[in-house]
Amino acid sequence: MTQDELKQAVAQAALEEVAQRLPQNAILGVGTGSTANLFIAALAPLKGRLGGAVASSEATRIRLEQLGIRVVAMNDVERLSLYVDGADEIDPGLAMIKGGGGALTREKIVAATAETFICIADASKQVETLGRFPLPIEVIPMATRQVARQLAQLGGLPRLREGFVTDNGNVILDVHGLAIPDPATLEAQVNQIVGVVANGLFARRGADVLLLGTEGGVQRFVHA
Ligand code: 5RP
Repeated sequence: MTQDELKQAVAQAALEEVAQRLPQNAILGVGTGSTANLFIAALAPLKGRLGGAVASSEATRIRLEQLGIRVVAMNDVERLSLYVDGADEIDPGLAMIKGGGGALTREKIVAATAETFICIADASKQVETLGRFPLPIEVIPMATRQVARQLAQLGGLPRLREGFVTDNGNVILDVHGLAIPDPATLEAQVNQIVGVVANGLFARRGADVLLLGTEGGVQRFVHA
């Protein structure tokens, strides 16, 4: 199977899970990226049951609206029961690196409001230890140099994502070469750097459920 077919399979599995678990008229949190896009495309049959959706990026907002799904502002939502999103890497404890699409800050905000985070990913995203994928960090533009210096002190090689501005008007530093045996500690450490808006480690609030697309079918993992 191609990677796209594996992504399609997990998008479909996520739709079935949402159909079973989401209360009538509830608001659904929707992530960003190619896997999330396949999930959005599959959402049409559930449209009538949804109270609306919270989008984790402008790109996702546009896709949801094109489908006729009402998009609700995060500030108008008290609690979300489910959030469905992809990942760039996910470890056995269901901690993730996210932000390949640059939407990490809004994704973190939506994830923090959700009771259950369902991660949808193809098998290439599953790793023993996070860090092969460069860690995306959203930074206030005027602090870029200073933040990059401090990230280098942590052992990483930060590179500015050229020509990219986040939905929040900031820049992304992609940090290469970090070994991340303890993602929750590094997540907190990076957050301490002045000028960092958010980092792409989702360890303190990782996934609750992983739907993993493999050659043998979709595997379901639940956070212990
Ligand atoms: C966007 C993300 C995505 O979830 C992540 O990059 C995975 O994307 P894809 O499904 O295209 O592989 O974090 O900011």
